[in-house]
Amino acid sequence: MWPGPYGNFGSRKYLLASLDQSLVRMGLDYVDIFYHHRPDPRTPLEETMGALDSAVHQGKALYAGISAYSPEDTSRAASLLRDMGTPCLIHQPQYSMFDRSIEKGLLSVLEAEGIGCIVFSPLAQGLLTDRYLDGVPDDSRAAKPHGFLQRDRVTAEVVAKVRKLNAYAGARGQSLAQMALAWVLRHPAMTSVLVGASRVEQVEDCVGALEKLAFTEGELAEIDSVLAG
Ligand SMILES: NC(=O)c1ccc[n+]([C@@H]2O[C@H](COP(=O)([O-])OP(=O)(O)OC[C@H]3O[C@@H](n4cnc5c(N)ncnc54)[C@H](OP(=O)(O)O)[C@@H]3O)[C@@H](O)[C@H]2O)c1
Repeated sequence: MWPGPYGNFGSRKYLLASLDQSLVRMGLDYVDIFYHHRPDPRTPLEETMGALDSAVHQGKALYAGISAYSPEDTSRAASLLRDMGTPCLIHQPQYSMFDRSIEKGLLSVLEAEGIGCIVFSPLAQGLLTDRYLDGVPDDSRAAKPHGFLQRDRVTAEVVAKVRKLNAYAGARGQSLAQMALAWVLRHPAMTSVLVGASRVEQVEDCVGALEKLAFTEGELAEIDSVLAG
């Protein structure tokens, strides 16, 4: 957030000062959820979770959450927060058809701990939409010079998979974005998705995912085979 030893990561000083400064910038008395973004290897987790607990008890946040925590760190964080009387409400991990790492442990920890899950980049930053079916449009995220999605990630192999998934979504009567969101939301432990958008029509299209959320086992297996191919 700012230069210096207390300008980032997970110290009590950093977390509470950055929350105070954010509240002033936003003109708010409190936030609904205050997340700790990623574990800090140089600050004891007890201190970081203690800061989240303080934010809630000071009335500056209604709930505490975490993001980018591993399954092991999530269990420890949840236990520390529980002992302090402030439940860990929600985890914000990355998850999409193109990044399934949370299936290897984090999702089951969240279910066991009763922690909600709201995923970011459910559309793989736009790859899992119709945006890149015929090249990289000038107004797309991958065409911008900054950001995580760069042109070199729009490979022939990725586009081939996206085309198959797009045809599959069409057969289900959905856009690819809608199918990709429904696929993320199929887990019982999934609370919601954080979708990005560059125009209103994209938001409207994405909300349409709610019209068809269910998949048959056969459909899921077909999608798995496209993703593995
Ligand atoms: N906790 C963390 O570490 C972390 C990290 C990253 C992001 N986040 C949060 O997660 C949010 C979402 O991340 P994200 O923006 O990467 O998510 P995303 O939903 O995977 O990608 C959003 C992009 O997909 C395209 N798109 C969206 N809906 C579409 C539709 N219906 N049809 C065609 N294209 C569509 C747009 O691309 P174009 O712009 O090219 O049109 C849009 O910018 C962020 O805003 C941020 O708040 C959190």
